[in-house]
Amino acid sequence: KIVPVVLCGGSGTRLWPRSRAAKPKPFIPLLGEETLYQATLRRCSDRDRFAPPMVVIGEKHLEFAKPQAAQIAPDAQFVVEPMGRNTAPAIALAALALDENDVMLVCPSDHHIVDTQAFQDAAQAAGKLASEDLLVAFGIAATAPETGYGYIRRGDPLGEGHQVHSFVEKPDLETALGFLAQGGYAWNGGIFAFRAGFFLSELTKYRPDMAAAARASFEQRDPESEDIRPAATQFGTIASESVDYALMENTDRAAMVDVSMGWSDIGNWDALLLQRKSPDADNVIVGPGEIIGASGSMIDSDGPHVTLIGADDIVVVVDRDDVLVTSRNAVQRVGEASRCKKP
Ligand code: GDD
Ligand code: MG
Repeated sequence: KIVPVVLCGGSGTRLWPRSRAAKPKPFIPLLGEETLYQATLRRCSDRDRFAPPMVVIGEKHLEFAKPQAAQIAPDAQFVVEPMGRNTAPAIALAALALDENDVMLVCPSDHHIVDTQAFQDAAQAAGKLASEDLLVAFGIAATAPETGYGYIRRGDPLGEGHQVHSFVEKPDLETALGFLAQGGYAWNGGIFAFRAGFFLSELTKYRPDMAAAARASFEQRDPESEDIRPAATQFGTIASESVDYALMENTDRAAMVDVSMGWSDIGNWDALLLQRKSPDADNVIVGPGEIIGASGSMIDSDGPHVTLIGADDIVVVVDRDDVLVTSRNAVQRVGEASRCKKP
């Protein structure tokens, strides 16, 4: 069986003011009743296919993660990071806590996936490649020159996927445009399958200091806790680095599976609008509001009734005492708001 490893970190400031440092994006219901974190657990809740999940998370968000898992994955285990050091160290802790032959499916906790069946089939295919000592990424059809994603160049066919010819994390715009023009590239979906022991041996090869510090921190974990609590002293010495930079760009043992599953990382308000909008509707209204003489706009209010007239492609979000008004083509700048830094 595959072990889901659910990563909860980052602050999701681009969905401010709904998402805040105190309660970030994975833990708020953005699409439907469940939160993105709950939907992530739900996708992996078939215990015939998936082992109980391991959630890697910082202390301050446990208060959301535990109750939200209670109904869907009461068997979840929690690895509590002493501090955030990005995804490579976070995944290393999970790998250390597992059996070396366990195949882990690393899942971001803040993505939206429409087709669960396609996700599960891809997990199966990726798991098979991972058990042959490959670091396996999920490839998503690249449709725009996004600079916030990793790009995977497909190599020769391999199993139900492909070898990875090369992996480039977050290229600049010019490079991304070049990749699209050239063809043969997929976006990295941020979902990975690794055999735990192989992940650790590749980490030891390319980031020996990180691997050693993560291991020392894991070995000095708190013996009293019901959760897995690695020690801060050693973990704190690790430099923050994502798995994309630390391993995927460096390894010569990468593979990928192409998957078409209606994937979105809901990276900003425009992406969320597109997920929420039904094809025949002009606008999106969540909460109390009315839109007159406009199209392509969205109101999302948790309190006041918002009226929007004659303004196309505008997003209005009300959250407690914060109001955000932005045009859809400026949503990438939401993180610049000085109020974003407040809890
Ligand atoms: N536990 C833990 N600790 N989780 C973390 C940490 C951490 O220190 N840092 C990030 N995460 C979680 C985030 O919550 C998210 O679910 C996932 O790991 C990925 O981190 P992001 O910070 O969202 O990465 P990204 O979006 O910039 O880039 C990654 O995802 C893209 C697809 O959405 C990369 O893998 C890209 O290559 C990829 O295209
Ligand atoms: Mg992300």
